Amino acid sequence: MPGCALTARRVYRRPVRRHKRRRRGLRPGPALPWGPVPDTADRIAELERYHREEVAVCTRCALSETRTQVVVGSGDPDADVMFVGEAPGYHEDVQGIPFVGASGKLLTTLLEGIGLTRDDVFVANVLKCRPPGNRDPAPAEIRTCEPHLFRQVALVRPRLVCTLGNFATKLLSGRPDGISRVHGHELPIELGGRPVLLYPLFHPAAALYTRAMLATLEADFARIPELLAATPPDATAGAAGPRPQATAPPAAAPPPPAVTPAPADEQLGLF
Ligand code: URA
Repeated sequence: MPGCALTARRVYRRPVRRHKRRRRGLRPGPALPWGPVPDTADRIAELERYHREEVAVCTRCALSETRTQVVVGSGDPDADVMFVGEAPGYHEDVQGIPFVGASGKLLTTLLEGIGLTRDDVFVANVLKCRPPGNRDPAPAEIRTCEPHLFRQVALVRPRLVCTLGNFATKLLSGRPDGISRVHGHELPIELGGRPVLLYPLFHPAAALYTRAMLATLEADFARIPELLAATPPDATAGAAGPRPQATAPPAAAPPPPAVTPAPADEQLGLF
């Protein structure tokens, strides 16, 4: 399937999860359009069908006229950790795989630094098609494309969703706060009908610009194993029933760290 790097090996690697624990005290994320989510094997088959029949052939916006191909997503369709970037760049558009350019190489290196490979995680973007010249995603494009991402989150069922940069962070948190303010601060939310831990990170392209930002990104990355360990599988995964209700606001966030240099808040062309 063009644009999809799922493999049979990854698809059937993990056993069905049991004894999931219901977590409380979550705030709802943005309203999401999703359908019922079946359990593991059916869920993965549905993800592959959705990618093939809905995403890879999508013509919902004008980016379909300028793209080479749709960049659906790649990695483990049953991953515990999902990374969400902004949009395909030149190399992703050519190869049909997310994060294969300069920032993708850095992402791979950062993953290796915490003992993970690209095959251990699922990687997708807010937009599935390259904006011409790597310009910023337009608000209308994000609105049109976001159902694809939300459906991916609902079907992959990650416990930890790492947003890379401003666009993914603002979309999935439902908050306007910029990445310089919120990076490294995990936020329990509800996505795809399930509790997930949202973990905003600088976009790797930003870290390619500034050494200080790379150090910050490495430090934020280093907390991923600890966050994952503190986020056990939950009882709501795969449930096709109603969404769990928020029962309490999230714990007060710690004060944001000193703001790192301004370029991270801008869309960077170094994809
Ligand atoms: N930047 C992104 O946000 N996504 C990609 O796939 C590549 C670069």
